[in-house]
Amino acid sequence: MPLLENPIGIFDSGVGGLSVLRAMREQMPNESMVYFGDQGHVPYGPRSMEQIQKFSEGITRFLLEQNSKLIVVACNTASAAALKYLRGRFPEVPFVGMEPAVKPAAEITKTGKVGVLATPATFQGALYASVVERFGAGVEFFQHACPGLVSQIEKGELESNATRAILEDALLPMLEKNIDTVVLGCTHYPFVIPLIERIVGAHVRVIDPAPSVARQVKRLLEVSVNLNQTSESQRVRFYTSADPASMKSLLPLLLGTDGEVEAVTWKDDQVTL
Ligand code: DGL
Repeated sequence: MPLLENPIGIFDSGVGGLSVLRAMREQMPNESMVYFGDQGHVPYGPRSMEQIQKFSEGITRFLLEQNSKLIVVACNTASAAALKYLRGRFPEVPFVGMEPAVKPAAEITKTGKVGVLATPATFQGALYASVVERFGAGVEFFQHACPGLVSQIEKGELESNATRAILEDALLPMLEKNIDTVVLGCTHYPFVIPLIERIVGAHVRVIDPAPSVARQVKRLLEVSVNLNQTSESQRVRFYTSADPASMKSLLPLLLGTDGEVEAVTWKDDQVTL
């Protein structure tokens, strides 16, 4: 049985999973966390399922070496491509993944028209098709892969003209179709919610799934009696497969706090310090 003081492992292709980490810290302030951003391979969106599975497996091994008691796949693309695969490879490890928030969107839409922003791999995966089939009856979904948006957020360009242009390309045609809800199906995108809200206006709801994923993690730790209630051991560590200075410089902007970032390297599909 893993010790409660052990950290929660979290990973993403880059800094997007920090939107999930942010929600987790709000709800579980006593938990230690290890965050891995695979910035050497970002973006995952245009990559093949096999490649994403290989990366996700290497990262999972690394996070387990850091004694993670639970692993959050804080990336819709990696969840779509690799969550089932990871559960098969590591049957003893509890995983929590992302799935596009189609269900809550279908419940709240009044116009019956919903926009979904995600990556190409997420739209192509079986997970997206299955949530739309299970929960999307009677709702029309308009999808857009927002090419280039992940890279803009990786550069910390949350408000630039180029970022705005990408979002307008995606959202203006959806507004013409009378959407009243937007699902953020990529963990990078919550960082541009203020910009999205300015484009779509106050009558359109924007759904960030991070708080509900954090609640799910907390529930899982509670039932397995692994939720850390003491505040002594809390510590967050960050790892990146690219230049640590770049992730470090983004932490204040994205998380509102500073942090130490260590570099790791990929060798033969394995992550090493
Ligand atoms: N944050 C990832 C996701 O949720 C980013 C995708 C990418 O690297 O393309 O899908």
